[in-house]
Amino acid sequence: MKTKPHVIRTKNFAADAADFILKQAHKAIGERNAFRIAFSGGNTPRPVYARLAAPGHDLQWDLLRITFGDERCVPPDDPDSNFRMARETLLAPAAVPEKSILRMRGEIDPQIAAQEYEDQLDLTARQHGEPIYRHDLILLGLGDDGHTASLFPGTAALEETTRRVVANFVPKLNAWRLTFTFPLINQARHILFLVGVAKNPGLIERVLEGDQQLPAARVNPSAGEVTWMIGD
Ligand code: 6PG
Repeated sequence: MKTKPHVIRTKNFAADAADFILKQAHKAIGERNAFRIAFSGGNTPRPVYARLAAPGHDLQWDLLRITFGDERCVPPDDPDSNFRMARETLLAPAAVPEKSILRMRGEIDPQIAAQEYEDQLDLTARQHGEPIYRHDLILLGLGDDGHTASLFPGTAALEETTRRVVANFVPKLNAWRLTFTFPLINQARHILFLVGVAKNPGLIERVLEGDQQLPAARVNPSAGEVTWMIGD
């Protein structure tokens, strides 16, 4: 059964998104003394991450466990790297400790990088008696073709039903990507889609109506909630 998403339209996108994340962080830390958050890539999250890095946000960075929902297969200093974007906007300015960050190694063989990342998540899950690693919050974006993370229409990773992290070849980009799969994404307690003001309203409506041709519409956490934060 699909959980009905909560839709927030806001003219204060970065501030409201940052506040949402902070609230989720405080809740998770209060309940489990940790906050497992997966960062999304692309451009939309930039002002949100910058806002979180601003002084005055009393986030206990050492209790955060930051993962990445997807990564381009490039080195961490590459302009296309999602890690680099997060480091520039938040990780470095907020001096987030290394131990709180689990980076996808885009610079090595994609299959090895995906397996390595999945093994690291699986190890933590096992240590906590979880069948699959359960994020407190996964941030997701929405591509113009309805992709989310690096789950692009027509690509193999869409059909993955057991692996948690895979290497996914994306023909339209002629490039490999590392990405969470639906089994991992749908294990989350909360999903937050971050969608900027420029995104096609018709596309958003199609996803919200559940058009399964669009990968973003297949995000459906079995025991979690979905919120859409849409810039107005
Ligand atoms: C990536 C992202 C991807 C992104 C969408 C939206 O690696 O590109 O994870 O899923 O969220 O493509 O990108 P924008 O925010 O730049 O529109």
